[in-house]
Amino acid sequence: MRPWLYDLLRCPSCKTRTPLSIAAESEHDGEVVTGLLTCPDCLTKYPIRHGIPRFVAPDQDYCGNFGFQWQKWKDIQIDRLSGHHLSETRFFADTGWDKGWLKGKIVLDGGCGAGRFADVALSHGARVVAMDLSDAIDACRLNTEIHGERAGLVQGSLLDLPFRDGVFDAVYCMGVIQHTPDPKAVMTALPAHVKAGGRVMYNFYEEGLWRRLQVFKYGLRLITPNLPISITLGLSKFLVGAFYWLTRSLAKIPKIRILNHIIPIAAVHDPALTPEQQYAWTVLDTFDWYGARFEKRQHHQQVRALLEGLGLEDVSSAPGIARGIKPGESQ
Ligand SMILES: C[S@@+](CC[C@H](N)C(=O)[O-])C[C@H]1O[C@@H](n2cnc3c(N)ncnc32)[C@H](O)[C@@H]1O
Ligand SMILES: [Zn+2]
Repeated sequence: MRPWLYDLLRCPSCKTRTPLSIAAESEHDGEVVTGLLTCPDCLTKYPIRHGIPRFVAPDQDYCGNFGFQWQKWKDIQIDRLSGHHLSETRFFADTGWDKGWLKGKIVLDGGCGAGRFADVALSHGARVVAMDLSDAIDACRLNTEIHGERAGLVQGSLLDLPFRDGVFDAVYCMGVIQHTPDPKAVMTALPAHVKAGGRVMYNFYEEGLWRRLQVFKYGLRLITPNLPISITLGLSKFLVGAFYWLTRSLAKIPKIRILNHIIPIAAVHDPALTPEQQYAWTVLDTFDWYGARFEKRQHHQQVRALLEGLGLEDVSSAPGIARGIKPGESQ
């Protein structure tokens, strides 16, 4: 953990303004690799392992599926490591930010997974705090260490943020909110940590017609989040093996392509990927569907109203996405 990251932290238990005290056990290249953070007010202790402050007790991590998922498929969605630009394209389309704007900014990636979007923001010159609840944070560390001291990693919860108020130029949270037990609490809490003039962007699963068509997916999801990970993985591979080629054929026929929404796999047919990559992304995304403990879809109009209610400005929303700006002059 680097000094600049330490300066952003606060105790997530009592939220005191008093800085955490730090006891380093081992250091490398100006970074605390192993050590202990202690809150001087409530005395809660938080370990630092592999350079990552850990604010999550094992019983708070309801995302074992994601920890497994992002360690197993660590590379394939990282543009730089798998020869495509899909993460970058999606990042700038969804945030609406200019590529040049990121340089020198301090940005929070809330629920970073293996770091596909953190890697994009880092590649464009931002200083990124990538945070995740699960062991996915260790996959993200390996994927982002090439960016050196600008990559800051934190294992923590969006429902109990370990950051001081008003420290980030921007926060983005991509594909995460619906997988928390309380999406509204997450969306409400994050803007407090953004500076005046700072930007907030959420993308999420939209509630609507498509969900109602996915009867087999949601039938299976009545049991799959409670199954052992190995069974969910086996089931996902089996379903993809059974249905992938059918979805590929249907995708080519415009009039009946809609039937793909009934088939219980998350089929990927993006021509920017090789056929092998398309198949692997399909297994990954299908496992993601069935393994997630929570899937709480949102109406973008309601998310927009929530952001407006928090006093954000220039709020905009479209299906699956919402953005806003914290009032005040950006420095
Ligand atoms: C579908 S993955 C998306 C990861 C990444 N944003 C991406 O788009 O590739 C959802 C991530 O949210 C994380 N997550 C879920 N609840 C969280 C919470 N309360 N705090 C932080 N991360 C959380 C999971 O561990 C998982 O890595
Ligand atoms: Zn405390």
